[in-house]
Amino acid sequence: MRYALISDLHANLPALQAVWGDIAPRDVGASYHLGDLVGYAPWPDETVAMVAAKGIAGIAGNYDSTVATDYKHCGCRYEDPRQEELSHLSYDWTRRHVQPGTKAYLGGLPFRIDLRPNGGHLGGPRVVLVHATPTLNTLYWTEDRPDDFCLTMARHAGMKPGDVIAFGHTHLPWHREVGGMHFLNTGSVGRPKDGDWRAGYVILEVGNGSPKVQFVRVEYDLEAAMRGIRESGLPDELAEYLRTGGRLAAPSSPSDPLNAARESRVP
Ligand SMILES: [Fe+2]
Repeated sequence: MRYALISDLHANLPALQAVWGDIAPRDVGASYHLGDLVGYAPWPDETVAMVAAKGIAGIAGNYDSTVATDYKHCGCRYEDPRQEELSHLSYDWTRRHVQPGTKAYLGGLPFRIDLRPNGGHLGGPRVVLVHATPTLNTLYWTEDRPDDFCLTMARHAGMKPGDVIAFGHTHLPWHREVGGMHFLNTGSVGRPKDGDWRAGYVILEVGNGSPKVQFVRVEYDLEAAMRGIRESGLPDELAEYLRTGGRLAAPSSPSDPLNAARESRVP
C-alpha cells in the first residue's frame, strides 16, 4: 500500500495545488494530511475547501484545533521575539478571516488516525498518523531527540516493531528507525523550514518487509503565494519566510528560487 502524506499546508493554496498535481499521476492508494491546514498565508478557506473536495482525510494540527476552539494562541513555537510577534499577527488574521464552515471543519478533525495497510483482519504493520506526537499536537519532535523519547512516544501510541508513526509540526523532514519502529516527519507543504522553499511531502510504502519512505519536493508558484500574502494584510515577512524556506538570515541558499531557476531541472 502506498500513501501520500502531506502536512503543514498552512493556507498556502499554490503549494497545495502543486503537490496535489504531483501526487495525482502517482500510483497512490490513499492520501492523508497531518494537520495545520491554516495559518501564515491568506487562503485558509480555500485550502480547507480543496482538502475536503479531494477527499483527503486527516487530523487536527495545533493551528487547526486552536482556531477551532478560539484558544488564546496558536500553540506555535517561536525562534525569536519577532517570530513570536509574526505568529500572533498571523493567528489573529486567520481567526478573523476563516468562515464559520471552515472553523467547524477544523473542529471536527480527529487527533489521530490509525491505518492497517494489510487490513484490520491481520496483525500486520500499522501506520499511526498524528500532527506532532501521540500525546499533544504542540510538542516538537525533532530529529535529535534521544532514542528514549521515540520509544516513550511509541509506547503512548501502542506501537510494535514494524509499525510506522508519521507526523509533521516541525516543518523539517526526517526518518529514523528505533527498536524496529519507524519515526517519520513528513516535512511541510506550505511553510518549509529547512532552507528549501519547495513544497515537501512523503510517499510511504508499507506492506511486507521494511517500509519505504520517499521524500518529495515540488516547485510551486512561489510568486503567487508571496503576492497573496503581501496583498492580504498579513506581514510581508511571511512572504520572505516562504522564499527562503524559513531561513530569513540566509536568503541566498542553493535552493533559493533565483538560483534554482539557473539550474537544470530540480528533481
Ligand atoms: Fe505547522
